[in-house]
Amino acid sequence: MTIKKSSWLNCFMNHESVPVIKPKQEKRFEPYNSQKSVKRISYTDLSSSMLPEELSISLAGSNLYVFTLAELKVITQSFSSSNFLGEGGFGPVHKGFIDDKLRPGLKAQPVAVKLLNIDGGQGHREWLTEVVFLGQLRHPHLVKLIGYCFEDEHRLLVYEYMPRGSLENQLFRRFSVSVPWSTRMKIALGAAKGLAFLHEAKQPVIYRDFKASNILLDSDYTAKLSDFGLAKDGPEGDDTHVSTRVMGTHGYAAPEYLMTGHLTAASDVYSFGVVLLELLTGRKSMDKTRSNREKNLVEWARPLLKVSRKLSKILDPRLEGQYSETGAQKAADLAYECLSHRPKARPTMSMIVDILTPLTEFNDMPVGTFVYTAPSPSPSPSRAPTEYKKSPISSPKNEMHKDDKKSINGHHHHHQHDRKHRRTKSPVISYETYLHSNLSTRTNSPE
Ligand SMILES: Nc1ncnc2c1ncn2[C@@H]1O[C@H](COP(=O)(O)OP(=O)(O)OP(=O)(O)O)[C@@H](O)[C@H]1O
Ligand SMILES: [Mg+2]
Repeated sequence: MTIKKSSWLNCFMNHESVPVIKPKQEKRFEPYNSQKSVKRISYTDLSSSMLPEELSISLAGSNLYVFTLAELKVITQSFSSSNFLGEGGFGPVHKGFIDDKLRPGLKAQPVAVKLLNIDGGQGHREWLTEVVFLGQLRHPHLVKLIGYCFEDEHRLLVYEYMPRGSLENQLFRRFSVSVPWSTRMKIALGAAKGLAFLHEAKQPVIYRDFKASNILLDSDYTAKLSDFGLAKDGPEGDDTHVSTRVMGTHGYAAPEYLMTGHLTAASDVYSFGVVLLELLTGRKSMDKTRSNREKNLVEWARPLLKVSRKLSKILDPRLEGQYSETGAQKAADLAYECLSHRPKARPTMSMIVDILTPLTEFNDMPVGTFVYTAPSPSPSPSRAPTEYKKSPISSPKNEMHKDDKKSINGHHHHHQHDRKHRRTKSPVISYETYLHSNLSTRTNSPE
């Protein structure tokens, strides 16, 4: 038995007081376990060689369902390509449907099933980290882990299905609809609330992998953080930081973390600043197709954020001027502070939540109708030309690039499944039509 005694005692003695609270209403800074005396089981309490039975006992009470591989095959139609949602460093993700007969108490719903491509111990450790953190943390801005499968060499995760996929897909995918300004602010605020919750928990968590592909979007654009494989318990007692091997994604990691391996909540704040900059500019944090000066988004854009006449030039052209000027300047100032080279000068996530909250409501926007046209190789002659405008971007520079997602410690993630790059002959649709269309046909499904 390799699990530390304290966690075992916790498990057996506190079944009724499990460290999970599902907030009825969102309360920003109330840690999930504030009313419970029991400590959240941390990753270090568990042995990475623990057996499936040991894990399910350790996490008893966390409301996680344990599935068999056979069950997950059924719900994903044998991981069929028509259910393929995308692929990251961990492995492919497929959509599935759970019916209400699968488990008592588990309602019928669509799910996303992530399958670990076996790559030795590191993959299993990340899988276990994800199960341990997301199994115990519950918040409206964290994606819900429904359960897992741990069978022989198979490791899978079952999440609530997020109909609008990742922010990365929404912002940067070819043929994706431009995200309106107020929605961008809503996404930034939601993601900030997720991070604030982690940082302000009784046992704080540093997320470590904050980036556009890890922010998933619900049908109403509620942002939820996913991928806790790199998350770390925050420093305890008098410690100011956690020392780690540098892991993360190029373009998002804080400079001091890259240099020293010292991880603090302020490293997440820096990454948040990068994503805020991506939302403002519509550009990826690293874009090798751009000129040397513009490859690194932060280096290029940060100095321009403070100069109001330059700000309008770097804002996403796909917004077509439809943004609040006051809101844009405030969001730009905030991004500037988050991206400070001095970690102590950065705001905390709770300050960021306070600053962003009113920005979702500014309405000093130029009046105009927004109509989106997805580029189509052979335009239909029946289309009324006055109703549509050509999409401002459809150039190869918006394609995803494998190298952008390389792990910092040198190992390549085998990312972006080829299917992700396949072109779609998208029909012309208005933004309204898109919003009300059947979401299962969203852009990151294979065609
Ligand atoms: N719960 C979910 N609901 C809907 N789609 C999801 C869900 N989880 C993941 N996806 C989709 O699956 C794809 C792969 O996600 P995954 O988290 O494995 O990789 P990634 O975030 O792109 O890369 P990385 O491995 O660097 O985190 C993403 O494009 C995302 O849109
Ligand atoms: Mg991810």
